[in-house]
Amino acid sequence: MPGDLYYDPFDFGIDIRAHEVWRRMREEAPLYRNDKHNFYALTRYDDVLACLLDPETYISSYGTTLDLMSDEVFPLPMFIFRDPPEHTLLRKLVSRAFTPRKIDGLETRIERVCAGLLDPLDGMSTFDFVERFSSLVPPTVILALLGFPEGMESEMRASVDNTMAIDETTAATGSRSVIEGENIGSVVFELIPELCAERRAEPADDLITVLATHERELEDGSTRPLTDDEIMGYVALIAGAGSETVARMLAWGVVLLADHPEQLRELGANEGLIPNAIEEILRYEAPSPVQGRRVTNDVELHGETVPAGANVLLINGSGNRDERHFPDADRFDIHRDIDRHLSFGYGAHFCIGGALARLEGRIGLEQMVRRFGTWDVDHEALDWVHTSTVRGYKSVPLTV
Ligand code: HEM
Repeated sequence: MPGDLYYDPFDFGIDIRAHEVWRRMREEAPLYRNDKHNFYALTRYDDVLACLLDPETYISSYGTTLDLMSDEVFPLPMFIFRDPPEHTLLRKLVSRAFTPRKIDGLETRIERVCAGLLDPLDGMSTFDFVERFSSLVPPTVILALLGFPEGMESEMRASVDNTMAIDETTAATGSRSVIEGENIGSVVFELIPELCAERRAEPADDLITVLATHERELEDGSTRPLTDDEIMGYVALIAGAGSETVARMLAWGVVLLADHPEQLRELGANEGLIPNAIEEILRYEAPSPVQGRRVTNDVELHGETVPAGANVLLINGSGNRDERHFPDADRFDIHRDIDRHLSFGYGAHFCIGGALARLEGRIGLEQMVRRFGTWDVDHEALDWVHTSTVRGYKSVPLTV
């Protein structure tokens, strides 16, 4: 392995120029080894896909991000950190809330959510897209999925407003939307037991009803309802997995399209191109680009033995740029024929919210294109988030 090739998911500088590093890893060290943080990494499309499809060898129960991976089984009751057969059972329960019919049923509500966030921006020439839009859409949509009545978002924001001190930035800009977005979480958690009780008395067609009325089967054949902790675990996983990622996807979308203005104009002229544009945005910049696994037994990879118990990072964000699978992979092209990108993972842990994310992406972009036509990004002022699960922008100043 070349001595100057170094990949470290905790290094912010590397995170920003990740594609350059991943390209070298694909070519020069397809099985990469990092001694400092004690992990292996796979970057080629075929390798990443094969491991994602083998959850018996590449397991998730010891954590799936490097900072969380340890020799102990991950303690929180979340199915993303479980392996089959337990994972299969836990996932099956909520998959009822993610059927195509359920997700399509959210379309008009998502349209209203997006319009409600964009209306106050009419007449403004510059705003932060993440702060004013992309970070607020997903938590609001998850409230809808859970079954919170429409209109409650603003009620909750108001209650947060009343109890919150105004900081300097808020006072200067008059905007506190991100702060509100973050606080919705805690208010929601307080309300969930109440909502569960309501749904047990009067079931509805939503995720809280699924969780509140489920009877978990025990080994002796008897059943019991989910505990409050189990319900919270589900809600926390879905809210966590479905918020940061969608916020990043939308932000990548507006930046990539600003960088390719001819393609942005094409979307304006033909909205039918938007769904494929979303796939290309997801392929080109995976919002969740690294999935960690632990190997259960010795495996041979690229002529080396990876020992049982080792941590392996599957870099799906790199697989999406592998020339072996996607010709001219570094070219952004909304017309690209994409058979399958790896941005939602694959196999047992394939993103359960993929259809919802795609719907949010489509509606978000449609409304941006209809309302503003084109836009420019102030590249100098772009700011990044650095977390172990997502890669992308914290701040995207747009001029419309
Ligand atoms: C663009 C947006 C999104 C991206 C890029 C994304 C990405 C991913 C990826 C890569 C995985 C696989 C993790 C692994 O293999 O360990 C995953 C799993 C998951 N995602 Fe998403 N996701 C997105 C949106 C959502 C949404 C909207 C929800 C829910 C509302 C959601 C809920 C989940 C859950 C619950 C899992 C765990 C599935 C399992 O372990 O069986 N995600 N997501």
